[in-house]
Amino acid sequence: MSDKINIKQRKAYNLLRDDKNYFILYGGAGGGGKSWLGCEWLMQCAQNLPGTRWFVGRNNLKDSRESVSITFAKVAASYNFKDYRLTSDGIKFDSGSEIIFLDLTYYPMKDPMYERLGSKEFTGGWIEEAGEVHYLAFEVLKTRVGRHLNDVYGIPPKILITCNPKKNWLYKTFYKPWKEGKLKTPYAFIPALVQDNPFATKEYIEMLQNTNDNVTKQRLYFGNWEYDDDPSSLCDYDAICDVFTNEHVRPNGLPKLSADLAMKGRDRFVTGKAVGHVCTMILDKTYSPGKMIETDLRNAMIDHRVSRSNVIVDSDGLGAYLESYLTGIKEFHGGARALSDEYDNIKTQCAFKLAELINNRDFRIICTPEQEERIKEELALLKRANVDKDTRKKSLITKETMKATLNHSPDYLDMLIMLMIFELRKPLKGARAIVTEAD
Ligand SMILES: Nc1ncnc2c1ncn2[C@@H]1O[C@H](COP(=O)(O)OP(=O)(O)O)[C@@H](O)[C@H]1O
Ligand SMILES: [Mg+2]
Repeated sequence: MSDKINIKQRKAYNLLRDDKNYFILYGGAGGGGKSWLGCEWLMQCAQNLPGTRWFVGRNNLKDSRESVSITFAKVAASYNFKDYRLTSDGIKFDSGSEIIFLDLTYYPMKDPMYERLGSKEFTGGWIEEAGEVHYLAFEVLKTRVGRHLNDVYGIPPKILITCNPKKNWLYKTFYKPWKEGKLKTPYAFIPALVQDNPFATKEYIEMLQNTNDNVTKQRLYFGNWEYDDDPSSLCDYDAICDVFTNEHVRPNGLPKLSADLAMKGRDRFVTGKAVGHVCTMILDKTYSPGKMIETDLRNAMIDHRVSRSNVIVDSDGLGAYLESYLTGIKEFHGGARALSDEYDNIKTQCAFKLAELINNRDFRIICTPEQEERIKEELALLKRANVDKDTRKKSLITKETMKATLNHSPDYLDMLIMLMIFELRKPLKGARAIVTEAD
């Protein structure tokens, strides 16, 4: 071993060994020694605490197997440690301890609540490249640690999280509160840059320094979490977070309903009720047969006192059931002409309107924490297409692109976008021209 020391890693060890910080985020940049720390920590735990069980999770099993095995072997070799063997599921130690590779891929249809992790019991573990991991995986794993010999050894449940800057749950749970001096135990964050890592090679540092892509350089070299990942985003992330706490936005006017219908292979049937700029999620089902949708919508209109002409549904849904029963509700044709020539179609115009309200802190959504996470992810995908071609009309990235990122269709986003039809000027006359009524 050399006499070089990565001080940030030492700090991390102090937290990993104390009895008050359970969830420790390390990194937030490239090359700060994240993967090394994860492997070294688990190697020491597994070796020194015989019989214990640890996990390493990533959003892809193949990735964790490959990258973790390589780094682990490197770390072990540096200690001349040989009392372990790699298996197909993880790493087995002669001490009887085990490190298990976990696949943290999110399967919204097959396993929306990570029930597959529900029966597992660990001493502690590590979420690697956490920026790619769904926040629910973290939530569930929090309940799975501290369950294997922790009482015998008197050690608290710990999860090490390593990541690059990412404006998702990591930003909200760790970075933002940390920056504001409000991060509290059991959560902790140690920023670690490549400059903090004396083991990083000159070539590696220069590669990060000289990258042409400014976004990558800001994130990976400077560890900048605020840097807008994508200049094509319509809403900034703070504004998206504020949507759920904008209590100054007061309800006013007649209630409107917007429903994205779970038909033709869609994921969810979601309905929001808006009173002025306050939208409350009132229906959210993963699967609904057509007849049920009709009954649910009809009851929602009665319960929430919403008139037919103040209801908008997506155009896929009306076909078989709604058309004949719910006369007078409006059908949204996103591809129809916009009211203004600036936009390529009405859906784009509605989306820009939504972004405007969100950025002006003039929109509020009331929903569950689970819905909030999902809605945030979807709002972050509100992006302009062809941002560099200023001659074109304003347009959005395609739904296919969104689906590829989310692994599901942007149902909440579609619902919110449709709602904006009531916001565009001269909604009634305009709406007649751009939406067909279902009668
Ligand atoms: N404590 C350490 N001792 C020896 N080498 C280290 C140590 N920490 C990091 N390194 C080396 O520094 C480089 C970057 O570390 P790595 O863990 O891959 O960073 P990250 O995962 O944050 O991008 C790697 O070559 C790694 O082997
Ligand atoms: Mg790494």
